[in-house]
Amino acid sequence: MDASTETYKVAIIGTGRPRNTEGFTGFGMAHPHARGYNATGRCRFVAFCDLVPERAELFNQEHAQGQAKIYDDYQTMLATEQPDIVSICTWPHLHAPMVIAAAGAGVKAIHCEKPMAPTWGEARQMEQVCRERGVQLTFNHQRRFLESFQKARQLVKEGAIGELRRLEGACGDMYDWGTHWLDMFGFYNDEAPGQWVIGQVDARRPKKVYGVPTETQGFCEVQYQNGVTGLLITGDGANEVVGCANRLIGTEGMIELHNQEPYVRLRGKGDTEMHGVESSEGLHGDKAITRAIADNVESLSAGKKPLLSAANAIQSTEVIFATYESARRRGRIEMPLTIDDHPFVDLLQNGVFPGATAEVADAVGR
Ligand SMILES: NC(=O)c1ccc[n+]([C@@H]2O[C@H](COP(=O)([O-])OP(=O)(O)OC[C@H]3O[C@@H](n4cnc5c(N)ncnc54)[C@H](O)[C@@H]3O)[C@@H](O)[C@H]2O)c1
Repeated sequence: MDASTETYKVAIIGTGRPRNTEGFTGFGMAHPHARGYNATGRCRFVAFCDLVPERAELFNQEHAQGQAKIYDDYQTMLATEQPDIVSICTWPHLHAPMVIAAAGAGVKAIHCEKPMAPTWGEARQMEQVCRERGVQLTFNHQRRFLESFQKARQLVKEGAIGELRRLEGACGDMYDWGTHWLDMFGFYNDEAPGQWVIGQVDARRPKKVYGVPTETQGFCEVQYQNGVTGLLITGDGANEVVGCANRLIGTEGMIELHNQEPYVRLRGKGDTEMHGVESSEGLHGDKAITRAIADNVESLSAGKKPLLSAANAIQSTEVIFATYESARRRGRIEMPLTIDDHPFVDLLQNGVFPGATAEVADAVGR
């Protein structure tokens, strides 16, 4: 068959319910994934899997005219249906076992939700297994496909701020949200690998996002191998400190990305003030997932590297775990990071943060 017209058999694990609908437990990220596959015109749903079969049934009616098979066990589904492409939309503690099982079952491509995994060891293993088996593995850092972020990157490439020197960001936590901004740092910065990281975290209260404990406040400073530096500030007060979502500082100017219009703001060479840059898209939106999945399918078909490749995600994930490791070792962490665990969970379990509890760390995934 001509690769450019091949139709792929697709399965989705963790169908969920859309946010604010009956029985929802999260955002129901599988739904925008499904709309993305349907939009390609090259994908046929063969099976959906969820621990709660009613969720998968409703999903089937909504996205596949009830034509896909329903499973509550992903291993059985993978072995029986032999899908070409699998989307994994469960919570992070299930990402690594599911990715590795899908690769073992012979799928060609896996699109997994972020963050990669709750430990650095699992994240590395997922990437390695898929690389060695020639499976296209991608993570849903979909913001790369929104106009505002692409405009910012294009302005850097055009030299609008001179030479890129520094990246800054603010968000709620290093792990669940920080994965997006650190991924974006890679996007702006030619996917340069990290050289070292120094960081600190605090946990004044128990806090979990999608079953994984996170800090209530923290920061990381990363030095990339090309000399650019990054600073991500998280949790309490982060937005006030940074004043925008992302900031790109160059030798001759600065770009900012904001949640309110104008989304992209520039003080370029010769400008005395920041001014808005035309961009109709904000910093969020499911259309990014539709575009990401189109890119995944096209890349699989053409044998090229997708924009959301695990090769990019593994670098931003290394910065996340290196930050927590910096807090554990009280010092600068050189790359590559060789630990296997999640240092923040270790710190919680050892009672380092009296305001948070060890129970939070003992129940990763719940
Ligand atoms: N890319 C983004 O912008 C973005 C936004 C929100 C959430 N996420 C990520 O998406 C992932 C999923 O979040 P969500 O909000 O869609 O979750 P959700 O709770 O809405 O859906 C998860 C589904 O997985 C099912 N499930 C659990 N264990 C299972 C198993 N063993 N086999 C099959 N199904 C199982 C649950 O029953 C549930 O229906 C998380 O990693 C989260 O961080 C990404």
